[in-house]
Amino acid sequence: MSIRAKRKDDHIDISQNCADGPEKNGFEDVVLIHQAVPELDLEQIDLGQQFLGKSLRYPLLINAMTGGTDQGHKINRALSELACQFGVAIAVGSQSIALSDPERRASFEVVREVNPHGLVLANISALARPDEALQVIDMMQADGLQLHLNVPQELAMREGERQFKGMLDNISHIASASPVPVIAKEVGFGLSQESAAMLFAAGVKILDTGGQGGTNFVVIEDRRQGCFDGELDHWGIPTAASLAEILSLQLPVQVIATGGIRTAVDAAKAIAMGAQLVGMAAPLLKLYFSQGAVALPEYLRQWLYRLKAVFLMTSAADLTSIQEKPLIIKGQTQAWLEARQIDCRLWSRRPNH
Ligand SMILES: Cc1cc2nc3c(=O)[nH]c(=O)nc-3n(C[C@H](O)[C@H](O)[C@H](O)COP(=O)(O)O)c2cc1C
Repeated sequence: MSIRAKRKDDHIDISQNCADGPEKNGFEDVVLIHQAVPELDLEQIDLGQQFLGKSLRYPLLINAMTGGTDQGHKINRALSELACQFGVAIAVGSQSIALSDPERRASFEVVREVNPHGLVLANISALARPDEALQVIDMMQADGLQLHLNVPQELAMREGERQFKGMLDNISHIASASPVPVIAKEVGFGLSQESAAMLFAAGVKILDTGGQGGTNFVVIEDRRQGCFDGELDHWGIPTAASLAEILSLQLPVQVIATGGIRTAVDAAKAIAMGAQLVGMAAPLLKLYFSQGAVALPEYLRQWLYRLKAVFLMTSAADLTSIQEKPLIIKGQTQAWLEARQIDCRLWSRRPNH
């Protein structure tokens, strides 16, 4: 097995046994207002939307995890069947392994095979060459391209990348060459206002927070004999703060909130704040290994029921409506936003018209 393939399987093995965090995702500080008289039936709640030209039934992205190994092939098949069944979006893990070894393509392509009409995202490093980016899009007949930003993970890895200069120019070249929209995604350390503004200026119109609170690749790499020795476990921006940072710029971008989204309540909070979609990765993998692929649909069915329930209790029949409801940001997230001169009234004074 190549070093890269071994690393991919290591990530899956270790992430299964890693707890979330240690930092929280920040949504414990976000409060939706309960409405005792919602005047809605549950069946009226419609969480569908058009995204990247495809119809989604729910605002959920099964986020990038795997491919490139036999194990990854099986997981990708199961996750893509799930995405197809529920009408949610799905991304594959980094496809660079399939560029150097074409035999590994099938473990990614299976995602499109089982879900021919669904919303599928390709994935590669933001440091990849533009021609490589075009190849991974083509491999998936992808609706969008995720470019992952993972500087802390690379620095934690003994064999990791050490040269990051020129990344923004590279993203800009990929964005102008790409036939599909480009999504810049962090992998668990969060996007700041500054990073979001730079990415937008480089031509990226969709940003994935990939914030703290869930999977932590510094912790995972340290378990693989990384270089940080536990000292950087708390590094990064919690997902709720990252989301608020990006939204406060009021740029014409769409935002995906990923990083420690576990409960339907947290998902509803992220969408209410202004996220277009929420992304989830590790919980689905953990369930796959603990209870098998058969457990995934029932898990998601219950989770989506709870998501609809939260919408109903805030008196919101759809995504647009919940984004007009007032919400409160308190505690550490409020302190964070105040320190960054971001006005919480952007959310608490809604509707703003
Ligand atoms: C096992 C594993 C492998 C991952 N591989 C990738 C990857 O190849 N490319 C990528 O952009 N993100 C990758 N991620 C990051 C996820 O897409 C997501 O951003 C991150 O796990 C935070 O979400 P979570 O807290 O719900 O797990 C991976 C996550 C896990 C758990």
